[in-house]
Amino acid sequence: MTDHPLRVWRGLAGDCVLLDGFHALKHALRFGADVPVAVTADRAAALALAGELAEDVRERLAGLLTEVTAAEYAALVPRPHPTAVAALAVRPDRAAALRRLARLPRTAPVVVLDEPRNLGNAGAVIRLAAGFGATGVVTTGTLDPWHPTVVRGGAGLHFATAVERLAVPELPPGPLFALDPEGEDIRGLTLPDDALLAFGSERGGLSGAVRARADHLVALPMRPQVSSYNLATSVAMTLYHWSAGAGRPA
Ligand SMILES: C[S@@+](CC[C@H](N)C(=O)[O-])C[C@H]1O[C@@H](n2cnc3c(N)ncnc32)[C@H](O)[C@@H]1O
Repeated sequence: MTDHPLRVWRGLAGDCVLLDGFHALKHALRFGADVPVAVTADRAAALALAGELAEDVRERLAGLLTEVTAAEYAALVPRPHPTAVAALAVRPDRAAALRRLARLPRTAPVVVLDEPRNLGNAGAVIRLAAGFGATGVVTTGTLDPWHPTVVRGGAGLHFATAVERLAVPELPPGPLFALDPEGEDIRGLTLPDDALLAFGSERGGLSGAVRARADHLVALPMRPQVSSYNLATSVAMTLYHWSAGAGRPA
């Protein structure tokens, strides 16, 4: 007899990553996550969505998704998602992620978020890093980059890159380019593939520890009187600049 999915859920919830919504589950499956349980309050709608948007994982979704009542679904998530889908995934091994982050030579940068505060920003940055094929995202400070709100903001793309929290002295090797409005104009620079690209917190900017470790301070073009850009948009511009220069000699 197979175990009821809600019993399985209760047994795993403490140790697993919450995938909140159809898109998080779709991306997690595409990028190799181990998903032991997935539920939906509307299986027909979820599979129709898979038919429209994710034919590549539709069969796996059909095998995984169990229908539960709307009330049972709502009790599993902090805030019901419009797609009424939720799943649990096994968190990738930290030691393996750290090895991936530290490995040189690197073919794409590591993004460092220095003491980020906003869970939505962190999720958006992980989604960007996945999209650009960055080696990973490292956060410093107290924010948990695997918090369910970050995973939701990252649309499950944590599984497409390496995501870990570290202290500044433990940052992976590589030249550190720290983004700051007072730095050198990015348009004159080629960012190397083995770079660490560091961004400061929404409130206070770069910490003293990251400034001390930085090899270069880099500025994004910005008109006078504008104080700064949003953290995630700064990451987007910088990764785009790296990608546009990739392959060029430093
Ligand atoms: C919202 S800003 C931080 C604003 C903060 N009040 C400060 O004092 O820097 C978040 C981060 O985005 C990056 N950033 C924002 N605008 C930038 C710019 N024009 N040039 C380089 N980096 C920028 C920096 O890494 C900054 O620490």
